[in-house]
Amino acid sequence: MIDEVLAEVSATADAAMAEIADCMDVASLDAVVARHRSKKGGLSAIKSRLGGLAEVDDRKRAGAAVNEAMGRLDAAVEQRREVLADAAISARIASETMDLTEWRRPTHRGHLHLVTQAWERLEDVFVGLGFTVAEGPEVETDWHNFEALNMSEGHPARGEFDTLFVDHVPPGGTVGSTVLRTHTSPVQIRTMLESAPPIYVIAPGRVFRRDTPDATHMPVFHQIEGLVIDRGISMADLAGTIEAFTKAFFGAGFSSRLRPSYFPFTEPSAEFDIRRPDGSWLELGGCGMVHPEVLRAGGIDPEEWSGFAFGFGIDRMAVMRHSVADIRDMYSNDIRFIEQF
Ligand code: FA5
Repeated sequence: MIDEVLAEVSATADAAMAEIADCMDVASLDAVVARHRSKKGGLSAIKSRLGGLAEVDDRKRAGAAVNEAMGRLDAAVEQRREVLADAAISARIASETMDLTEWRRPTHRGHLHLVTQAWERLEDVFVGLGFTVAEGPEVETDWHNFEALNMSEGHPARGEFDTLFVDHVPPGGTVGSTVLRTHTSPVQIRTMLESAPPIYVIAPGRVFRRDTPDATHMPVFHQIEGLVIDRGISMADLAGTIEAFTKAFFGAGFSSRLRPSYFPFTEPSAEFDIRRPDGSWLELGGCGMVHPEVLRAGGIDPEEWSGFAFGFGIDRMAVMRHSVADIRDMYSNDIRFIEQF
């Protein structure tokens, strides 16, 4: 008799353990627990029948077996409850997780604008030749932009710079005495006034002219100015610097030449051209020996010091370097064009 009871305890406990293991949520686990604890079901039902065993020892053995099985079931229930709770949290995290990985997908990296690339390369080359970089304001006084550069009011050379005037009258100034700088040459004056010679600077920057856009002109474009002031500087130093720059920037297959020209702020003045490997010449900018009047305006004694200056268009250099047919393409913001460089 006792053996049958023990077998029943064992079988009931095994069945309950299997049911517990099968529970996939807390509600069904609670239902299994309720059934096995109820007086009519499972181990509790067996326990209530133990009084029917004749032998005290049998009742003890069977009671102990039932208690041990109940303890096992309780432990299994708790363990299952923890597993289900963990699974519930994991499921919730999974359902609430947001996919933020999009920004980490490999993105297409852009690059600097062609003009910025040329600007930085020019700086690198000139810094390599021993120059430092100077800056000046884009909104300038008439004095710095023209007057101090030997272009007094009414000077015909002013007419060549289609100037954009700013509607601003500075204290003590007059209407029309503030301009968007038409070239980077006013930085020559600012540098001379701010520092004593010897001076070896370049000044890249944005300039403005009332030029109608076409294949070689923009109303907003970029120039790089160069200024050297030292003792005994001659035109040969200018030619040598231009040649060294041409080779460093464009490559060994390029060379340069100076062509007589006129600028009010240099004397003598020249245009400088570069010769491409195919033998063709291209005008890059203007240059010359700094005019004594300009040195004086900058507070420098022309009897003691001499110097040269040059200025050329960065946009045109970028156009040339990349064989772009039309300068306007660089500012059209057409990604199909920009992506090519
Ligand atoms: C000047 O602006 C003088 N300040 C250069 C200079 C400096 C001479 C120091 C002597 C000593 P110019 O106006 O020629 O010169 O302009 C110089 C260069 O700027 C031109 O050779 C050209 O490359 C570029 N440039 C002029 N106008 C435009 C424009 N509208 N769009 C794009 N580039 C231009």
